[in-house]
Amino acid sequence: MRIIKLNATDSTNLYLKDLMNESSLEDFTFVVADTQTLGRGQMGTVWESEHGKNLTFSVLKKIESEQFNNPFLLNICISLAVYNALHTLGIPNLKVKWPNDILSGHSKICGILIENILSGSRMISSVIGIGLNVNQEKFIGLPNVSSLKLIMGKTFDLEMLLFLFYGELKKSFLEIENKGAGYMKDTYESVLFRKDKPSTFKGTDGNLFMGFIRGVSDQGKLMVTLEDDIQKEFNMKEISLLY
Ligand code: BTN
Repeated sequence: MRIIKLNATDSTNLYLKDLMNESSLEDFTFVVADTQTLGRGQMGTVWESEHGKNLTFSVLKKIESEQFNNPFLLNICISLAVYNALHTLGIPNLKVKWPNDILSGHSKICGILIENILSGSRMISSVIGIGLNVNQEKFIGLPNVSSLKLIMGKTFDLEMLLFLFYGELKKSFLEIENKGAGYMKDTYESVLFRKDKPSTFKGTDGNLFMGFIRGVSDQGKLMVTLEDDIQKEFNMKEISLLY
């Protein structure tokens, strides 16, 4: 494990990707920053974080493409590592909101942005970006966002959390080898937010519709039962879960 600590950068994902172009980096190289001036979220969104209050970091993980022939397995592996790290801390009512938001109750406390780069025909270099809301107390204009401090009523040490995440990420990758993809997927589905509950979704046309989340496909699509028992699979661009 190598840790590169920065006071500020545009985005730790971008920093790590640039560094990978310049030199060969060891597996589990971490880049952690107190501030990101261009923190990036999923689907082109911005990830905001108060200076020095939260954990914003990226990890390089080299993987053999054969091991990850199910493209969603990496996402499952990382989501479960984050889930387990937060579970260890006693954070209540943890769920994974498809594809990889980590919630406590109905509030998002952690976001994950995975960017894969092919290096050769058999290897993938995965840049795993994690933003965890730790000691920030105000999230103006973000009603369904919270932090560990707001939930647990105490301040957390960022360095301790980083090591906790390192351990859980390592464990999660080992678990794929030891227990297999099927086990990982079942575990992921067992902690999926609103699974088997009546839920409201918004489609690409802006219309709302009702359905029940049943799980995820091997491709990572959300499997939903709609009215009249129609089964459908949606990708991230096609659907957003409202409640
Ligand atoms: C999301 O939209 O939920 C994903 C947020 C990911 C944020 C993290 S913070 C560290 C890393 N660097 C970035 O620019 N983004 C990720």
